[in-house]
Amino acid sequence: MTNFRIITRYAFAAALVGGLGFTPGASAEGVSRVELMASQCNSCHGINGAGAKPNPSIAGENKEDFLDLMQAFASGDEPTSIMDRHAQGYTEAELKMLAEYYSKQ
Ligand code: HEC
Repeated sequence: MTNFRIITRYAFAAALVGGLGFTPGASAEGVSRVELMASQCNSCHGINGAGAKPNPSIAGENKEDFLDLMQAFASGDEPTSIMDRHAQGYTEAELKMLAEYYSKQ
């Protein structure tokens, strides 16, 4: 009987610790807005933008060049197969966030 009580106490404690350690949604809250935006890009440009053939690497690009290129894609000044559609989907502030983010990858 005593053993049973100890076992149930441990089981309760383990469930509590397990419950705290595994909180659904914790990882979603831990993802920043720029990481969420970048996850769209990484689907083509590889993990952290490191490149995934045949798509070019966008990691470590100079942030001014990155922003110029994205704006040129959006305006049509820079011919592109697909990037015009992606570049047009973001505000200037968001493109700056992405430029900053990828310059540090
Ligand atoms: C559907 C695949 C796809 C997605 C998604 C995508 N790209 Fe691209 N990206 C390309 C391709 C392909 C090129 C090469 C130019 C072209 O053909 O359009 C490119 C080129 C680029 C370049 C120029 C690289 C260089 O040095 O010439 C940048 C910068 C870039 N993408 C940034 C982004 C960002 C930021 C996102 C997310 C907002 C993104 N891309 C999403 C396919 C994609």
